[in-house]
Amino acid sequence: MKAAVTVHTGNPDVIKFQEVPIPIVESDWVLIKVKAFGLNRSELFTRKGDSPGVEFPRIQGIECVGIVEEDPSNTYKKGQQVAAIMGGMGRFFDGGYAEYTLAPLEIIFPFESTLDWEILGAIPEMFQTVSGSIYQALEIEKDETLLIRGGTSSIGMLSCQLAKAKGLTVLSTTRNSEKTQALLDNGADHVIIDNGTVKEEVRKIYPMGVNKVLELIGTRTLKDSLKCIALKGMVCMTGILGSEWTMKAFTPMGDIPSLGRLTVYMGESNNLSKELLQEFIVEVENGSVKLNIDKVFHLDQLAKAHEYMENNKAKGKLVVKV
Ligand SMILES: NC(=O)c1ccc[n+]([C@@H]2O[C@H](COP(=O)([O-])OP(=O)(O)OC[C@H]3O[C@@H](n4cnc5c(N)ncnc54)[C@H](OP(=O)(O)O)[C@@H]3O)[C@@H](O)[C@H]2O)c1
Repeated sequence: MKAAVTVHTGNPDVIKFQEVPIPIVESDWVLIKVKAFGLNRSELFTRKGDSPGVEFPRIQGIECVGIVEEDPSNTYKKGQQVAAIMGGMGRFFDGGYAEYTLAPLEIIFPFESTLDWEILGAIPEMFQTVSGSIYQALEIEKDETLLIRGGTSSIGMLSCQLAKAKGLTVLSTTRNSEKTQALLDNGADHVIIDNGTVKEEVRKIYPMGVNKVLELIGTRTLKDSLKCIALKGMVCMTGILGSEWTMKAFTPMGDIPSLGRLTVYMGESNNLSKELLQEFIVEVENGSVKLNIDKVFHLDQLAKAHEYMENNKAKGKLVVKV
């Protein structure tokens, strides 16, 4: 089979399009013929060598959608549509950047859909992250205000749509004023240009602060996000777009306002139910959710796709079609 293999850590050009053996099926694992997959920021970290415990060469890709080629457990039948998400995929065992991938039964999600594969490819990890962050972690409610820090990211764009559908008011940030219209078109009520601090801008609109913040930039802006919340407001850090994993100084009694709440979301496949994924796919099918797919690449263009993401050219999800 053909695969995009990360031969060692480094710049995007360490990903080589190669001929490799099709994985050999084992019990409790499912061989999937990959049709498409979303590209994820964490795959950039892994490629650079920032994911502990990953050995190279490695076929990366923490998710995929496709059809079952072989399932020795007979849980799924040949040709059935499935997604595989996380559980060490593309890090501790070979992942989705290939024509076939072998995934353990526990990370397989069956679904039925007539959507194009490139649309389906955008869904699993993006939806898992968004639903986990805004429903499970932030527990968003109708009529609340939500600030999305890193609003133009694919996670930010989908979070905005789902929050709007639930009846929230959304404030969304970008560093780039040229992306303002894209955020408004996606449903944001207010766009704030983020140059590191947004608390003044947020408090001009909501003097008492916002109820919830989805923090996707991470430690660089976390303290400022905590300054944006209203009494008993909550910040959920889900992303590290700012590429800084550890904070230099953090004073809980001081940086977290009294009664304020700070949480994180580090989702796994078991945070998502098979039913919820299928329901979301139906919402995309009937048009009630419009996915922002910025660009579709092919399997032999993985290095280019990594470079495109690294240069922050996208306004939405990047997908690779196999
Ligand atoms: N916790 C989880 O389970 C989980 C799962 C999936 C993803 N994530 C995380 O969620 C975040 C979003 O992922 P994604 O795939 O949706 O990202 P993405 O679509 O690649 O995000 C691209 C946007 O990020 C912004 N950005 C990039 N570098 C930045 C920086 N240094 N400072 C501020 N903004 C920056 C840029 O926005 P502007 O140019 O418009 O400012 C860019 O348009 C990532 O950190 C990812 O690792 C977490």
